[in-house]
Amino acid sequence: MRGPSSFYSTPLLMTQLTILRYPDSRLHTVAKPVAAVDARLKLLVSDMFETMYEAAGIGLAASQVDVHERLVVIDISEKHDEPLVLINPEIIWASEETRLGEEGCLSVPGIYDGVERSIAIKVTAMDLDGQLQTLAVEGMLAVCIQHEMDHLMGKVFVEYLSPLKRNRIKTKLVKQKKDDERDGER
Ligand code: NI
Repeated sequence: MRGPSSFYSTPLLMTQLTILRYPDSRLHTVAKPVAAVDARLKLLVSDMFETMYEAAGIGLAASQVDVHERLVVIDISEKHDEPLVLINPEIIWASEETRLGEEGCLSVPGIYDGVERSIAIKVTAMDLDGQLQTLAVEGMLAVCIQHEMDHLMGKVFVEYLSPLKRNRIKTKLVKQKKDDERDGER
């Protein structure tokens, strides 16, 4: 699925951001709280949505575009019409019940593997109006929020996998990056 959301109606002002790719060490930076919901932050949010939609993703953490602040954008809808912005999110409750589900990540292209997550969570976060909201969510949205909030702690989902699997993924992505760079020089 591609195409920008109708939520933001200023496509000419939007910028595609570069998504860091595992194993880039910057992905392991712990994000700091967002200090103010101002024009800079709103522009960053719209650029992040544009970048996420263009990459056919359902979630993107600021960490992935090398901005180390506690900010996440999510849209799990097929039509890209349910944008969700979480500023300074905190998980205040997570179900003991977990489920193993397949995950992928825009920073780990082409890799999908199982991760165990709480099936339901409660999250507090500020919205774009600077209002503190509490969300109770389950299913795919709960998984997505947990995945994106891991990014803010410098954690990429492959770190839940065995060292053997993780090393295979690392090797594959390092080779892919070299191939991409070589192709770029031609
Ligand atoms: Ni991710």
